[in-house]
Parts: sequence; C-alpha cells; structure tokens
Amino acid sequence: MDVEKIRKDFPVVDDYIYFDSACLSLKPQPVIDAVQRYYNEFPVCEGKRSAHTLSTKLTREIKKGRESVRDLLKASGTEEIAFTKNTTEAINTVARGLTLKKGDKVLTTDKEHNSNLVPWIKMKEKRGIEYEQISSDNDGQLNLEDLKEKMDDDVKIVSMVHTSNLDGTTIPASEVCDIVHEYDAYFMLDGAQSVPHRPVDVKEIGVDFLAFSVHKMLGPTGVGVLYGRKELLEELDPLTYGGGGVRSTRYDEATLQDSPEKFEAGLQNFASLAAVKPAVDYIRKIGLEKIQEHETKLNRIATEELREMVEIIGPEDAEKRSGIFNFLLKKLGCHEITLLMDEENILLRGGQQCVHSWYSFHGLEGGNRASFYLYNTEEEVKKFVEVIKSLVG
Ligand SMILES: Cc1ncc(COP(=O)(O)O)c(C=O)c1O
Repeated sequence: MDVEKIRKDFPVVDDYIYFDSACLSLKPQPVIDAVQRYYNEFPVCEGKRSAHTLSTKLTREIKKGRESVRDLLKASGTEEIAFTKNTTEAINTVARGLTLKKGDKVLTTDKEHNSNLVPWIKMKEKRGIEYEQISSDNDGQLNLEDLKEKMDDDVKIVSMVHTSNLDGTTIPASEVCDIVHEYDAYFMLDGAQSVPHRPVDVKEIGVDFLAFSVHKMLGPTGVGVLYGRKELLEELDPLTYGGGGVRSTRYDEATLQDSPEKFEAGLQNFASLAAVKPAVDYIRKIGLEKIQEHETKLNRIATEELREMVEIIGPEDAEKRSGIFNFLLKKLGCHEITLLMDEENILLRGGQQCVHSWYSFHGLEGGNRASFYLYNTEEEVKKFVEVIKSLVG
C-alpha cells in the first residue's frame, strides 16, 4: 500500500496529524469531485419523484452507489440496502420499526455507542421491554458464556457493536449470530467501525441487520446504510413517513413503497448520495485487508512505544484493537491532553467517545483516542509517541 500516493488524494492530510477517523474520515478528491459534480451538473431531485433529464442523471449515480454498497457487503440485492443519515438513524429504524412489546428482551454488549444504547433504554421506558447487556472480560472480549446464559425465548433482538469505537475489539460475529438464531431472535451489527476497516460479508456472518456510516469510510457527510435481509426489510416499518416513501395515498389510506424506497421518505441528501460510489470504489481499490493490516501496524508502533507509560483501554495486544489506540494518562485529564496535542497539530478525540455508559460504570472521566486510517503514516505515529513521552516526561 503506497501511503504517500494515497495522501496526495486527501486535501488537508499534510496540514495536521489527523487521528480522529473513527469519528469522521477525511475525504479523497474523487469523493469531493462527485459532490461538486452534483451541484454543477445535476443539482436536482432524484428521479423517483421527477423523471426529467437532470433527475435521471442523478438517479443513475445514486443507483450506482447503492449497487456498490450491495457488492461491498455481498448482499443479495439492492432492496436490502436502504440509505439513512447515519448509523444512528439505521439502528433507530430497526429499534422502532420492530414491533417490540412489553416483556420482549433485547441484548447488547456493555460497550455500546449511545446510538445502540439509548434506543433500547427508550424502548424499555416507553414499551416495557427488558434490556440487558452482555459483559466483556478483562481483555475487552465479549463473554460468550454470559450471552448463552442470557439467551431465552423472550429475546427478540441481539444488537451489538461489531468493532468497538472504545477499544477496537471485534466480536466473533458469526459465532454470536449462530447462538442468537438458535432462539429465533434477530441479530443486528453496528458496523460503524468494522465496515470501513475490514471486509464484512453479511451472508458469511448470517447477520439480519447491519448499520454503518459512509462518512466514516471516506464518503461524504450525512450518509449511512441500513442493510437488512429482504424479507425483514419488507416487514419493517420505516422511521419516517412521507413523500417518496409511499406508492399511493387516499385521505384515509397510505400504501407504502417497497424497500428501500419506503425508508427514504422526503427529499434526501442527494449531493452526498451521488458520491457514495467513489468512496466505496476508493476503499476497494486499496483493499480492506491491506487497510486493516496498515492500521494494525501503526497501532503496534504506538503500543510498543507507549505501553509502559499510559494505560491502554482494551487488550494490550495491538492486533486485537484494529486502528484504535485509546489511553489514559493519570497525570493529566483527557481534555487537557486533547488541547496540548492540538497545539502540536495532532488531532485526537478526548472524552467519552459516546460510550458514556462504559466510562461512568468504570468511574473514569474519559480517555484520549487516536484512531488510524489508510492515510496515516509511521512518521505521524512516531511524532505522536514523542509528544506523549514529553507530556509524561
Ligand atoms: C461504534 C459506533 N457506532 C455508532 C456510531 C454513530 O455513528 P453516526 O454518528 O455516524 O451515526 C459511531 C460513531 O462514532 C460508532 O463509532
């Protein structure tokens, strides 16, 4: 993988040491060009609503984007790929679209991003569902025995973060899926940190629903994906009702469109949707295995150099933490570290990274997370190491 060549495609990459890709990735020029192309060449509404020449051009681009996501995930058809605003909206669509009722049980891990925690807490408050978490062991790995113990016929859905934004660990998704399906429950993965960083094949895993954000994988902002098995999306109620999501209406009756249209009511973020394919193409051209290997290599350097000086959140072994290096420094608070690093042009994420529940359970103010991606270099990691060492000093 030629990182120097890759960096030429990313406008601001040389101005900063950007280690916050787990939040939002930088965008390569082909993605920026595609957004501009929308505004310059076909700045209109998609052809579902209008069928003139300009809207037909846009429709073609969005169709290509959907097909590229289908191919990336090895899904059966594009009706299994609904565009959302982000991972959060995709998870909420499932949480609120399933007809969960009092006594139904939902399980997640104990390290969920708020977007896979709050919807279930609200379902508990509003609909009386049971909501429990599966514990992780001291090494941050999912406790499968705890999962097996908590599974029963009341469990309707198990929704888990695939790769954690807190500590970078990845759950054994196929194994979990098999356990969940033994009880005829659904299995959903929050793929916000897996799909941009490793190959994810929905059929190989057997997962029922998968949520992720295209803006974390070099894509434009404001685009996420809800993958769902065809027969499940056919049954699932959308989060939003309105224009484009219905086939016909009368004053007292509305017939919804099929998937994916029924999930995409109202005018959409067309400029970004028109740039989905270039983002997926870019990632695939480099290769997800190579990206994964590169991030692990960078994480190994940070880990080897700093393991004695900082407390790493999650397993000590860098191979188990993908591109996430989240750490605590006893001497300084996390917000102070973020500001000090920022003065050195190193952009980190400080705080609770939307996993407030885990930090508050462990009585911690927050950590400092460096997250690496394909455009980061060994030199950048060495500079980061040097600055941390000087802070520990
Ligand atoms: C694991 C995980 N899940 C969900 C999300 C939410 O993503 P979005 O804000 O794009 O909805 C994030 C964002 O950082 C994440 O890391």
